[in-house]
Amino acid sequence: MEKDSVRQRVRQLREKIDEHNYQYHVLDQPLISDAEFDADLRELVEIEQQFPDLISPDSPTQRVGGQPQSGFAQVTHRLPMLSLENALNIGDLRNFVSRAKKLVPAAELEFVVELKVDGLAVSLQYEAGLFVRGATRGDGEVGEDITHNLRTVKSIPLRLRKPLTLEVRGEVYLPRASFLTLNEERRLHNLPLFANPRNAAAGSLRQLDPQVAASRNLEVVIYGLGYAPELQPHSHYAALNSLKDLGLSINDQIVVLRELADVVSYCESWRDKRAALPYEIDGLVIKINDLSLQQRLGNTAKSPRWAIAYKFPAEQAETKVLGITVQVGRTGTLTPIAELEPVLLAGTVVKRASLHNEDILREKDVRSGDYVLVRKAGEIIPEVVTVVKAKRTGAEEPFIMPELCPACGEQVRRLPGESAMRCFNFYCPAQEVERIIHFASRGAMDIDGMGPALAEQLLAAGLITDIADLYSLTGKKAELLALERKAAKSVENLLSAIEKSKEQPLWRLLYGLGIRFVGERTARELSAHFGSLDQLISASPAELEAVEEVGPKISASISEFFALDSSKELVARLRSAGLKMTETKEDGAEKLLAGKNFVLTGTLPTYSREEAAALIEAAGGRVSSSVSKNTDYLVAGEKPGSKLEKAEKLQIIILDEQALQALLAKGK
Ligand code: IVH
Repeated sequence: MEKDSVRQRVRQLREKIDEHNYQYHVLDQPLISDAEFDADLRELVEIEQQFPDLISPDSPTQRVGGQPQSGFAQVTHRLPMLSLENALNIGDLRNFVSRAKKLVPAAELEFVVELKVDGLAVSLQYEAGLFVRGATRGDGEVGEDITHNLRTVKSIPLRLRKPLTLEVRGEVYLPRASFLTLNEERRLHNLPLFANPRNAAAGSLRQLDPQVAASRNLEVVIYGLGYAPELQPHSHYAALNSLKDLGLSINDQIVVLRELADVVSYCESWRDKRAALPYEIDGLVIKINDLSLQQRLGNTAKSPRWAIAYKFPAEQAETKVLGITVQVGRTGTLTPIAELEPVLLAGTVVKRASLHNEDILREKDVRSGDYVLVRKAGEIIPEVVTVVKAKRTGAEEPFIMPELCPACGEQVRRLPGESAMRCFNFYCPAQEVERIIHFASRGAMDIDGMGPALAEQLLAAGLITDIADLYSLTGKKAELLALERKAAKSVENLLSAIEKSKEQPLWRLLYGLGIRFVGERTARELSAHFGSLDQLISASPAELEAVEEVGPKISASISEFFALDSSKELVARLRSAGLKMTETKEDGAEKLLAGKNFVLTGTLPTYSREEAAALIEAAGGRVSSSVSKNTDYLVAGEKPGSKLEKAEKLQIIILDEQALQALLAKGK
């Protein structure tokens, strides 16, 4: 091709891609199929590979830049990024309006009401239409330069539809479905889960390597102007519409209202409706529409006098911290837990809440005896939101993370770059019990009847000390029968389940060993790649890294695990117990969702119940009609009803249709 016609094709492709990005992300009206869009993008990538001098920074292929950064530069905001005053009830809203009326008595007030999306505030700067810099809010005066990550957010245009120089402000967030998929992915990889979508969004933007943010499906909603002298709108509403015309994505639920009563009822209408939104909101924002009035009202030190946030009392409850304990996980991670006076929260009684890790514990400064607000984080694990400092009496005791493991007494350490304190004693009993539970769990060796209570009982009675001992229980029938409330039948069943587990495919054993970072998916790939445990154990780091799922971190963790004498001994004992240590043909063919139980509820956006069930069954899963503790996943659509409540109570993983699709796609 002639260079000129190549250039022209590149321009055509970029215009088409930008246009469809705008249709999709801003107007929410895709005009072409994903396949057609992808084909255009691929063609552009191919041309740019052939003619690298045609690459420009605003090309849609250039969202993920080259090298990870070594740190974040500081960005001083030209105008401070203020925060909002909160209205917690109608009275606060009324006060906000009367204060404004007093300051600008003659004016007719008009209000713009917007959703308050729960994510991370960002500032985006465009020069002559090009996206040049993006920053976090920071302390409001100085933020961090996260341009490299913001470029990966597909709803942030790299070029505006007009060559303007301006700064806008908005919120980057993670939609609920992407949050669920991300956590499910992390669970499969044995990574710590994000507590809620906001933390996940913030964590994604605080990465040095833009690949991470690029993989996270972040979205942006623009809610206002920063320093933007080239735009001279009269009203906030007009400003938002000009931003939309420029290609920026604004929320589609914005209304203009005149009466306070209407504002209140609009806000209240979202109290229930918000559960159905594909993203989380923590309230609404009410802004005075007229920009000259905004200017006259000005700001206090922290927030504008022309806007206020109407916050929903989040599903939070206040309760007392009875004490703080430390839980030791399977990989030795120490998690501080607040033991609470039982309190009803969103339909369940909460007695414990995670304080995540030492940094968070210190930042929130939670003390034994404190009153705290707890909430259901990401609708799964309760967490402590904040301490009610006003209720302190002085008798509260600060908590210091132990230097010794509470379970085994070994020195605990914090590795550089990690926020978790860990116990490195492989024989630590707390880790042992978790290891046994994990080994026997349905996702791993699937030993029916071998749950947490029994694992603890067996360890306490000295009948087992580690997972290999499970296979010597056949010789200890009398002792098993002597255990509290153990009927002959259940002992028989347990022993036969243990016996049956010897035939489990290699990947289940590998996953069951609980090697750090080796989740179910990685275990499957390792098993398929090496074919036997011996081959895997003798593999060099380079050979390990030849497996698609495995990078340096995972390969180091595998090598470290098998280098331990304790692991060598464990493998030898499992071998002599007769466990399968090679992969057979049928193992490789085992379907991804084999042994997983699903329940469907509510109306899904595109699949019928029958279609969804067929897809799950084709991937090896089982679909049943009612939720029980054996359910692995609840797929919930609109109007989910009581099954959802029950699943939430049992802490079962809840997927929406998109998350189900993502799960199914992994099996391909
Ligand atoms: S206006 C000067 N509008 O809420 C006031 N903020 O609690 C600027 N937020 O830092 C904020 N949605 O991160 C505004 N429609 C919206 C918003 C919104 C979410 C966040 C924003 C801000 C925080 C204040």
